[in-house]
Amino acid sequence: METTIKDIARICGVAVSTVSRAINNHPDINEETKVLIMQAVQDYHYIPNNSARNLKRSESNTIAVLIKGIGNPFFSNIMKVFEKEIQKKKYSFLLHRVEEHEDEIEVALQLEKEKRLKGIVFLGGYFLQSKERLSKLNIPYILSTGGVSDGTEKESLSYVSVDDYKESYKIVDYLCKLGHKRIATIAAPPMDENIGKLRLKGYRSALKDNGIEPEQDLICYNEDETDQIFSMEYGYKAAKKLLDAGVFFTAIFAISDSIAIGAAKAIFDSGKHVPEDYSIAGFDGIDYAKYYQPSITTIQQPIEDMATETIRILFDLIDGKKNTVGKIFSGELVVGQSTKVL
Ligand code: RIB
Repeated sequence: METTIKDIARICGVAVSTVSRAINNHPDINEETKVLIMQAVQDYHYIPNNSARNLKRSESNTIAVLIKGIGNPFFSNIMKVFEKEIQKKKYSFLLHRVEEHEDEIEVALQLEKEKRLKGIVFLGGYFLQSKERLSKLNIPYILSTGGVSDGTEKESLSYVSVDDYKESYKIVDYLCKLGHKRIATIAAPPMDENIGKLRLKGYRSALKDNGIEPEQDLICYNEDETDQIFSMEYGYKAAKKLLDAGVFFTAIFAISDSIAIGAAKAIFDSGKHVPEDYSIAGFDGIDYAKYYQPSITTIQQPIEDMATETIRILFDLIDGKKNTVGKIFSGELVVGQSTKVL
């Protein structure tokens, strides 16, 4: 039980106002009495200045969601689920945008301190996730839809994702089975050790298993550091670079649907057509991919289930039921009008 000012007064046999004078360093108090009171304050762990109560009052039931690449439409439906699930628990939801080159762990640490958070969700692809850096956090956290890079000790992390390697293998294999042999990819820049790397690995393996040697000049990324990686602009610029380089290819695997849509626009702007001249495949299954003309062949991530599970796991961690939990969901190949048999 919390020690109150009344307890200290009773223990010391003085009035509450005397205790108050002692702890507020008031001159109008006998020195011996003051020493006695201050000793009791220490012995009974009384926190003066109302700071204990202030601390309690400012404690918030808040979950922060840190998001890199807020412009990516992939996140909008996820966010709706997060908000609903967090509110069900009577917690509030704080959305925090992390800039492209910002250090997310530093941001998280700062928020943890300032907002007295109960938990953190790192949302999306390219978070730096070294165990050592993440271990600086003192509250539960989970990586959601972000992939878990190869080198990571998975058992030490909580995460929800699809198997990025396996799913990108699936869609590139599909392109190969359509007869494409010259398949380019719009990948993430090499510094992306996470989703970008896993999806690239899936691309390479699928090509190899179909008897096609991956070629460096078919692996393209946009070097403009100011662009968000998983964006239409990124896809547009990378595809333009690919087209301008004059390399021969018949299909593109873009590592997200936003990138695929940007790439399709670059193809139309160059006077060519999808899928007549180039097939395009993406990844994510966002609404734009479905309603784009032509609709984009993609890997549908089960985002509602993944988002619900993210919050469920986070609350298990907050309630101390688990230490870490990782869950991998299956994606589904959705064939749109952007790919054709060669
Ligand atoms: O954060 C970027 C990407 O990570 C999204 O497009 C989606 O693929 C997610 O998993």
